[in-house]
Amino acid sequence: MYILGLNAYHADSSAAIFKDGKLIAATEEERFRRVKHWAGFPTMAVEFCLREAGISLAELNHIAIGRDPYAKLGKKILFLLKNPGGGWNAVADRFLNAKKVSSIEKEFSSIDASIDVSKLKSKIHQVEHHRSHLASAFFASPFEEAALLSIDGSGDFTTTMVAVGKANKIEVLDSVDFPHSLGIFYTAFTQLLGFPHYGDEYKVMGLAPYGEPKYAERLKDVLHFNSDGLFTLNLDYFRSAKSGIISYGDNHIPEVAPMFSDYMVKKFGPARGPEEPLSQYHKDLAASVQRISEELIFHILNHLQKKTGLKNICVAGGVAQNSVANGKLSRKTGFSNIYIPSAGHDAGISMGAGLYVHNQVLGLPRAEPIWSAYTGSRYGNVEIEKYLRSRDIEYKIYSDEELYEKVADRLIDSGVVGWFNGRAEFGPRALGARSILADPRRTDAKEILNLKVKRRESFRPFAPSILKEYVSEYFEITDEVPFMEKVFPIRPEKHAVIPAVTHVDGTGRLQTVDQMVTPRYYALIDAFRRKTGVPILLNTSFNENEPIVNSPAEALECFLRTNMDMLVLENCVITRG
Ligand SMILES: [Fe+2]
Repeated sequence: MYILGLNAYHADSSAAIFKDGKLIAATEEERFRRVKHWAGFPTMAVEFCLREAGISLAELNHIAIGRDPYAKLGKKILFLLKNPGGGWNAVADRFLNAKKVSSIEKEFSSIDASIDVSKLKSKIHQVEHHRSHLASAFFASPFEEAALLSIDGSGDFTTTMVAVGKANKIEVLDSVDFPHSLGIFYTAFTQLLGFPHYGDEYKVMGLAPYGEPKYAERLKDVLHFNSDGLFTLNLDYFRSAKSGIISYGDNHIPEVAPMFSDYMVKKFGPARGPEEPLSQYHKDLAASVQRISEELIFHILNHLQKKTGLKNICVAGGVAQNSVANGKLSRKTGFSNIYIPSAGHDAGISMGAGLYVHNQVLGLPRAEPIWSAYTGSRYGNVEIEKYLRSRDIEYKIYSDEELYEKVADRLIDSGVVGWFNGRAEFGPRALGARSILADPRRTDAKEILNLKVKRRESFRPFAPSILKEYVSEYFEITDEVPFMEKVFPIRPEKHAVIPAVTHVDGTGRLQTVDQMVTPRYYALIDAFRRKTGVPILLNTSFNENEPIVNSPAEALECFLRTNMDMLVLENCVITRG
C-alpha cells in the first residue's frame, strides 16, 4: 500500500512516499526548482517520489495533504470579522480557502496527463498542519509513548500544540491560536536586527553568543508566560496581523512582511539596515531574544512533563530548528529522551501527513523508527562519468579505500572539498551526502571557507560531524544527534583542538555519524581520524546562496563558480588547477 504525503502551497513545499508504512523517499521541491523555500505545488518532488517507488500516480492508495482549511474554522471567521479591511481577500484565502481539493486534483493531472484524476483510486486526506508536525516526530521516533510539542510561526491558525502519543495514536491536549506565536516573536526581532528574509532566524541564534541577555526581563513584556504552561504575545509590539504575515507571489518565494510595530521600535530601537554594522546592542538583543525563547520552550515542556509524567519528548515545527534550545532540553526540562526529525520545519509536513494517515487514520501498526535523513536524489558512478565526459571535465576514479585516503589527505593539506555521496538529505542540514568539508583543526578554516566558497556573515559558526563512538571525548553531553538538531558544549580542553567548529561560547552543533546509517561518510571521517587523531570533520552545506545541490550538474557548477579545491562525485574526483 502506498501513501503520498505533501506539503503544498506553503513554504518548503515537499513530498514523501511510504510503502506499507516504510519511508521510501522524501524531498523538498526547492532542490529541483533551485529556489530556496519554494512554496507552490511540489510537482517535481512528487514525480521523484513516484520514480523512487517505481509506481505511477494511479497506483497510489492514499494522498495526505498537510493542511486543513476547516481546522478552527469558527475561530478563523471570528478573527476575520474582528480584523476587517486591509487585505481581507488575501487573509480569507490564507485562512479559509487556500487551495481546494479540486485544484489539487488539477495539479496531479499536470504530472500525468493520461490519467483522469477524478477517477484516481487514492483517497485524499487533509491533515491539519500541527498534527502533521507532531506525526513527523512521534511516528518516526523510537518511543512507544511520548509527550509531543509542535511549535512554529503558524499553520492552520495554530502556532503551538501539545499532545501525547501512544502506539499509533496522537491525542491533542492543548493549543495556542494565531497570532500568539513564538515563531512570530522570534521573526519580528530577527527583522528588527536587520535580517529580513524568510528563514533568517538562525542568524540571530548564531549571533546570540556574542552578546549578554541584558534585555531578557524587558522582553517579558512582549511575551507573557501563562500559568497553564502556554503563552500570549503583547500584540502592541506587533503589526496588525490583518493583512497576513507571509505571502507567496507568482514566483512561489515566501516573503515575510515586517511584523514589528512602531511600539516595538519605540521600545527596542529602529530596525538595523542590512548593511549597518552589528553593534553590541544588537548582539545583546539577539542574546536576550534567544534566552527568552529558550525559557518559554522550557516553560511549555516542564508543564507538559508534569502533566503527562512522561520521560520521552518529540518536538517539531519551525521553532524546533532552534538547535541551541534543543541541546538544553535534557538539562532544563524533566524529559530525558528527545526525538526531533531531520525535517523539523515545514518540509517535514509531507512526511508527517503521510505518517498520520498510516497510523492515526488507517490504524496500521507503527513502522521502524527513522534514523536516516538520506531519502533524496541519488546518482551512480556510471551516470556521473557520462555527465563529466559530456562536459569534457577531467576526472579520476578511485576505489572506495583510495578515495577516503585521497580526500583525507587533501583536507589535511588545507583543502576545501565538495563531497557528493549517496542519497541527498531531507531537511535543512547537510549531513555528509551534499556537504562541503574542511579540517576542523585549522584556526583559519572559517576564513578559508568564506574566502573560497561561502562568503557568509563572520559570526555564523561551522558545524562538526563526529564519529558517534567519540562523542563523549569531545562533548560534555553524550547523545544521538543524527540530524545536527542539537548544540552541545564542547569539552574545554578540546576547544583548541577543533577551533574551526567551536563557537564563541564553546559549543558545537554536532552531527553524530553512525556507521550503520552512512557507512561511506563514516569511513571518510575514520580515514581522517587515523591520520590526525581527530574523529571529526567540519561540515557545511554544499551550496552557495542557493538550495543545497541536488544533482552532479549543480555540484559541478558550484565547484566551478567557487574556489573549492576538490570535488568528489561518488568515486569520481575532480581537482582544481
Ligand atoms: Fe509549521
